[in-house]
Amino acid sequence: MCGIVGYIGDRNAVPLLLEGLHRLEYRGYDSSGVTVLEQGHLETRKAVGKIAELELHLANGSAPHGNLGIAHTRWATHGAPNRINAHPHLDCTGEIAIVHNGIIENAAVLRQKLQQLGHVFRSETDTEVVAHLIEEAYDGGGLEGAVRAALTQVEGAYGLAIMSSRDPDTLVAARKGSPLLLGIGENGEYFIASDVAAVLAQTRQVIYLDDGEIAVLRRDGYNITELAGGAISKEVKQIEWDLEAIERGGFEHFMMKEIFEQPETLRNTMRGRLLEEEGTVRLGGITLSAAELKGIKRVIVTACGTSWHAGLLGGYMMEELVRVPVEVEYASEFRYRNPVVDENTLCIAISQSGETADTLAAMREAKRRGAIVMGIVNAVGSTIARESDFGMYLHAGPEIGVASTKAFTSQVVALAQFTLLMGRLRTLSVLQGREIVAALRRLPEQVERVLELDDAIREIARIYKSATNFLYLGRGYNYPTALEGALKLKEISYIHAEGLPAAEMKHGPIALIDENMPVVIVAPQDGVYSKVLSNVQEVKARGGRIIAVVTEGDTELDGMVDHVIPIPRAIDLLTPVLATVPLQLLAYHIAVMRGCNVDMPRNLAKSVTVE
Ligand code: G6P
Repeated sequence: MCGIVGYIGDRNAVPLLLEGLHRLEYRGYDSSGVTVLEQGHLETRKAVGKIAELELHLANGSAPHGNLGIAHTRWATHGAPNRINAHPHLDCTGEIAIVHNGIIENAAVLRQKLQQLGHVFRSETDTEVVAHLIEEAYDGGGLEGAVRAALTQVEGAYGLAIMSSRDPDTLVAARKGSPLLLGIGENGEYFIASDVAAVLAQTRQVIYLDDGEIAVLRRDGYNITELAGGAISKEVKQIEWDLEAIERGGFEHFMMKEIFEQPETLRNTMRGRLLEEEGTVRLGGITLSAAELKGIKRVIVTACGTSWHAGLLGGYMMEELVRVPVEVEYASEFRYRNPVVDENTLCIAISQSGETADTLAAMREAKRRGAIVMGIVNAVGSTIARESDFGMYLHAGPEIGVASTKAFTSQVVALAQFTLLMGRLRTLSVLQGREIVAALRRLPEQVERVLELDDAIREIARIYKSATNFLYLGRGYNYPTALEGALKLKEISYIHAEGLPAAEMKHGPIALIDENMPVVIVAPQDGVYSKVLSNVQEVKARGGRIIAVVTEGDTELDGMVDHVIPIPRAIDLLTPVLATVPLQLLAYHIAVMRGCNVDMPRNLAKSVTVE
């Protein structure tokens, strides 16, 4: 989720690159950097923090001057956000510079191989291996050939911009899994960018690169080919959007953009982690040995808000598949109790921002009492990430909408992966493991299918937009889904909504049911399906209006409910991911129709860093 800008032309590159970086800043930043070719040498400047810091650094020192350059704003995935890890990264000779978005999955193996060949690494990033690979492949045949040869060894996702002082009139770009485009300026000038916002002030003519394509830009023209060598002709697109709309990816709100990003963010959360054959996962951040992981006798999960809902799901998963006792507790409660914790207790702190004060305090308290602490965090280098003994990053990219969406589904998938790892060490056979891996693999495409229901869900929203109360019911794995659905609605539409375990209805809340109380029932065909059916009947018998989230092809509820939202079939523990997406959309459309500020709801903050 970083930003890339590159320039080749006749003008001074630095101001153009900085302008591009500023336009990408909304995607997140923790550090930035720029490399320019100045009188035959590559000159690199980097700074930690916002782009303004880099600007200040350039203004204070000597800003390099030249008309070929690349720049990057980083949102860390591998390695802490500091100057050394900031891009551009250079090879050993300092003659090749690259900026990269994405994740190189086989970075560790490549790094070792390159070190054996004598390459010296400066940063902790996965990116730097690509610079050294290109150096290794450079045989005098030019930058383009070296890049092609290097990329055949790379597994994972990348959007890359590459330059070299050995090839002073060339800028190379390559894409696989991370967006990249070419901006066509006037009079032989060209841009590379990860996002059209970065070039819009200079040109509206762009070419979007597709996966497996490589672009070579020179002042006298450009050439786009397949990585394997085949020629391609690409269409030049004229961009009509205004800048603000582009930052939101053409969506009206960040929240909607983030809901629609979920197929991609889930892929990122799983990238390089699933091991089909072994039926397990490889989690680079989990630094405990198998024996240490097996030594865990108890798990405490602690978090706030939406992250706590993901935690509840994690608890269910771990008890079912790892057979270890799990307690899931609000961080704000945990921190002031006198909890039983020992050195065999694993405390999992879950946080999108990694900065939530209560979660941090709970985690510190658990640590003080001797627990091993694991963080499941989205923001790399955040306090919770730093203070955890080990952990997992979500790789979901910056979440801007205050109501959490893509971070939640990534948290659930991260917890499913950790459960699988632990389960395979204890109770699960390789065949059971493979089934879970396959189900995870299917998930992003299934989420894509759920997103196709957007229009239908908007129509349901239209019917219920004036309701003053909502109930959300679910059982088993989908009780937390009901809680999350209700939370989304109240956060952004200000409608009072409650999530309940479906069977608890009859112990009180059923008194509330009448035709003015819409009830959302999450009823996929899972282990508790038949039980939920009887709860549906209880609501129907009292005149309630029901919106049911069901498994595709299930017609059993047709006559009983008012609206059906079908989701693809999945294994029980992953149904919440698919069932939550329509509930996000429902909340979103209702809030928009009520004229609410969905990205910045009243009284809420994205990151609550006070108690
Ligand atoms: C705030 C946000 C919620 C979020 C919660 C926990 O209340 O508005 O969306 O779920 O904090 O945040 P965290 O960053 O720790 O996941």
